[in-house]
Amino acid sequence: AQPINLVNEPILGYLKGSSERSLLEDALQHRQSTCEEIPIVIAGKEYWTDDVHYQTMPSNHQKKIAKFCYATPELLQKSISASLEARKSWEKVPLNKKVDIFLKAGDLVSTKYRSQLNASTMLGQGKTVFQAEIDAACELADFLRFNADFAQRLYDYQPVNVDPSIRNSVRHRGLEGFIAAVSPFNFTAIGGNLAYAPAIMGNVVLWKPSDTAMLSNYIVFRLMEESGIPSGVVNFVPAEGPTFGRAITTSPHLSAINFTGSVPTFHWLWMQVGQNVDRFRNLPRLVGECGGKNYHFVHSSANVEHVVNSTLRGAFEYSGQKCSACSRLYVPSSLWKQIKEGLVEGMKQMKIGPVTDFDTFTSSVIDERAYNRIASYIKHAEQAPHIEVIAGGHRDKSVGYFIHPTLLETKDPRDRVMVEEIFGPVLTAFVYDDNAVDETLELVDSSTSFALTGAVFAEDREFLAQAAERLKMSAGNFYINDKSTGAVVGQQPFGGGRLSGTNDKAGSPHYLLRWTSPQAIKQSF
Ligand code: ALA
Repeated sequence: AQPINLVNEPILGYLKGSSERSLLEDALQHRQSTCEEIPIVIAGKEYWTDDVHYQTMPSNHQKKIAKFCYATPELLQKSISASLEARKSWEKVPLNKKVDIFLKAGDLVSTKYRSQLNASTMLGQGKTVFQAEIDAACELADFLRFNADFAQRLYDYQPVNVDPSIRNSVRHRGLEGFIAAVSPFNFTAIGGNLAYAPAIMGNVVLWKPSDTAMLSNYIVFRLMEESGIPSGVVNFVPAEGPTFGRAITTSPHLSAINFTGSVPTFHWLWMQVGQNVDRFRNLPRLVGECGGKNYHFVHSSANVEHVVNSTLRGAFEYSGQKCSACSRLYVPSSLWKQIKEGLVEGMKQMKIGPVTDFDTFTSSVIDERAYNRIASYIKHAEQAPHIEVIAGGHRDKSVGYFIHPTLLETKDPRDRVMVEEIFGPVLTAFVYDDNAVDETLELVDSSTSFALTGAVFAEDREFLAQAAERLKMSAGNFYINDKSTGAVVGQQPFGGGRLSGTNDKAGSPHYLLRWTSPQAIKQSF
């Protein structure tokens, strides 16, 4: 195995006068004045159809940054055949060659393409410079490099050999067939990981990127080609969701779906697979990450300033559009006054503006559908007698889809705003009686169907042990005295249970196990 230096990619500061800042400014300028024409790419060949769409900037929706088209059912069939053809040679490429490709790709992300990836993620997905940097530069490079290392470690494992006349071994085979990767808008790195983590284990992929992350995802696709991944191993196929879903789930060769997105879409895909179960040559593996209703639980022994800062970041960075974002806050009545004042003060100081201003704290939400959905929750809160809008609520979609960070307080801990995923900058607090800690922990665990991330804040160690036990199943990623967002590849493997998904832990060797079908071999002499 090739030794790999497993260090997470450092986050650059983009200070005025720095070289990374001037490169990024050039890339931003170029991307704002260009509408990139993005083809469908199947086995290295470009295709166009009449079903044309545009990616616009969410913070300035008149501005088009990419033109793309949806694949027809015929092109989807073609991409399935092309991937199966590519599989024949890709599965024979030795792991060390695949590792070289992934390490080269990691370096292209962190050097040559860093500013392009960041600019396209900022403009297209509405991220601030910091949020783009930790995603499209650092997390993406980390996924590529760490997956190369994890793959080597899995290959290194060999079963026990005790009898000199018998040799036991395991060899890794890619899944038989093709994998469909359906990726979300909110992380460029997740798109890259959904499409390419299966590839390092010898699989071939149809990648359907999100319409609202098209440009950054296309840059990822092209840089992977530049790194040496053969044509056809990953096929770039923008498509209308149900058309894509039907094409993959009616093919006998579907071997897995690698999905991040909404609960209803994942359930729909699951049902399509179920309905077609007799068709498949192999039972498809379903890997999904579907969001959350993540909590911060504050104990009376917590450090108030730390709670306030962590909650402002966990709830409002990237306008709450991380699947890990905190959207429900449980505070003991003894601390509520101080915490409320801290949150309101912090929210006053946040700059909400265009992503191209480097001091913007957060910008718009992703599109009109998201804007309307989030606004409907705020309207509900404005009208509900048991909910008070403490701060924010302001919204305006005339130029971009802007919704200001909003803090609600509810007397009903099972109101919609405490139970349903809003996926926007709306945080709801429930104030509990200091003597009702046990009942409130029960509420945290039982009041929603999600279990992605959660955090407890306390200095009292006995309480922390009790909470960690009581909330064991409530989150796949559990934080003690830290915010619910910001899992780092290799450090906090990511994923959750219940409605949040299959908890296959992206950013860890566990994840790669889903993309291999090992064969055990016993040889007798
Ligand atoms: N992995 C991302 C986070 O933890 C979603 O915030």
